[in-house]
Amino acid sequence: MLDLATIRRDSEVEAIMEMSERQIEALGFTEHSRRHAGIVSKWSGEILRSLGKDDNRIRLVEIAGYLHDIGNCINRKDHAQSGAILSYKILTRLGMSPLEAAEIMMAIGNHDEQYGQPVSDISSALIIADKADVHKSRVKNTVSDVFQANIHDRVNLAAEKSFVRVEEGGSVIALHIDIDTAICSVMDYFEIYFGRMQLSRKAAEFLGCRFSLVINGTVLL
Ligand SMILES: [Fe+2]
Ligand SMILES: [Fe+2]
Repeated sequence: MLDLATIRRDSEVEAIMEMSERQIEALGFTEHSRRHAGIVSKWSGEILRSLGKDDNRIRLVEIAGYLHDIGNCINRKDHAQSGAILSYKILTRLGMSPLEAAEIMMAIGNHDEQYGQPVSDISSALIIADKADVHKSRVKNTVSDVFQANIHDRVNLAAEKSFVRVEEGGSVIALHIDIDTAICSVMDYFEIYFGRMQLSRKAAEFLGCRFSLVINGTVLL
């Protein structure tokens, strides 16, 4: 059975990940590297595990989480769709069944807020984990004056910590973020992340849960 460790070691995956990182860096976007891939893989697996899903669903979502942004090696635009097709090709080459590879392709093709929708448990967990990764270490631009930085960088620079977890006996999926409000206001956060939070809420509902957003310990949603 194809596992995440085998995929991580694959030379084609390695090359595509490397090129994705180079392109995102060249574009000056926030980090979408193997660090982000690893975190999204881990968090999406934890969400499904906490909701009592079986080991196979957890294996599939961890793989989807790791590969979800590989379309960035082609172009940032439509990276969800291109990454979905790339993933299908890689996973079937590595021996995954067409049905499981198609399930991962569908989840990856739906992870971006522009066109994505929660369409399965795997897709829903992937959306929530992806949108939850906000952290100052993701800012790649050299920022000498934080107030001159673009709003995406400023929001990420302000984020001291973020994590997502299933709470209240499996009925709530909560995103916790600690923001330094001297750098970015909660309004700045919403200006950028409103679409992502709406999609996360839909994804939580697909999983039969309520979505909650907790910033600096205050429950906002
Ligand atoms: Fe993405
Ligand atoms: Fe992502």
